[in-house]
Amino acid sequence: MMTRRALITGITGQDGSYLAEHLLGLGYEVHGLVRRVAMEDQEQRLGRIAHLLDRIVLHPATMESYASIFRVIAQQDYDECYHLAAQSFVAESFEDGFSTMNTNINGTHYLLAALRELQPRCRFYFAGSSEMFGKVRETPQRETTPFYPRSPYGISKVTGFELTRNYREAYGMFCCSGILFNHEGPRRGMQFVTRKITRTVARIKLGLATELRLGNLDAKRDWGHAADYVRAMHLMLQQPAPDDYVVASGESHTVREFCDLAFAEAGLDYRDFVKADERFLRPAEVDCLLGDPRKAREVLGWRPKYTFRELVAEMVQADLARLTH
Ligand code: GDD
Repeated sequence: MMTRRALITGITGQDGSYLAEHLLGLGYEVHGLVRRVAMEDQEQRLGRIAHLLDRIVLHPATMESYASIFRVIAQQDYDECYHLAAQSFVAESFEDGFSTMNTNINGTHYLLAALRELQPRCRFYFAGSSEMFGKVRETPQRETTPFYPRSPYGISKVTGFELTRNYREAYGMFCCSGILFNHEGPRRGMQFVTRKITRTVARIKLGLATELRLGNLDAKRDWGHAADYVRAMHLMLQQPAPDDYVVASGESHTVREFCDLAFAEAGLDYRDFVKADERFLRPAEVDCLLGDPRKAREVLGWRPKYTFRELVAEMVQADLARLTH
């Protein structure tokens, strides 16, 4: 069989790094789009893929420029394109909705338009999000649940989702969206609540911090492990026909429960350290997310390997190990 070639936008992020590893393991030739500054500052910006650099090909481009994306797509053919690049921090999208919209909506549109122009047979994956369900219309959320986004980020993802569907229907392209619920792991960025918790737990345990300041402890999320979720992305593009899929664990937990387990993993009681801080509250909150992964299970044969407890334990242990070595 011919080696398949995949292009990943957002390859330097948590999901991009796990997906690159997964595709390399399957024998793919893996390419990534990265900002030019990242190529010039590899130590700081390519940390998550440092161990893969001799096995992948990086191309400088920015999701803000159609010309830069067009140039990369024009250089060679790809079998599959995974569009993961985005401004993905919900709280930041309230601070600067314009740049979130610009990068997330136009970036997706540029990439789809360039593929349509140059490689309409390339299979395309769009990283949709459970944030699109926002103020949820039904529980659990599934592929048919109406969207009700609650942040500029959520709105940008709904638009990206609609663009992806429209390219599928209007131009007959193989375009899929994964509606991924929260997915975490030791490579998660520090600003997201899970990593903020596990890193601070490790710092407290080692005497480097004395408290953890958080916003809404009652928010509920359906959390899984990113290494599991990237397998679903790949499976979507191997199906006979393009479609959209919810990817979730099917379990929901509060931020408080995450804290409880994470502190306990280090032999601590979260009630002694967690402080409420309204600076971390959002202007509009998504209170409760719970996904129904039945379609992904039945059609893709996808099943997560990690339990919630294993996810929390791995993240705490990884942060403890990082700070002690
Ligand atoms: N980040 C953060 N920091 N969140 C906090 C804090 C805090 O100090 N305190 C409470 N939270 C709550 C947030 O209000 C939210 O309800 C929940 O913890 C999770 O926040 P994040 O980890 O920032 O993730 P998110 O759910 O907003 O978004 C993530 O998941 C989406 C999929 O549902 C991101 O990865 C998105 O890019 C992704 O699409």
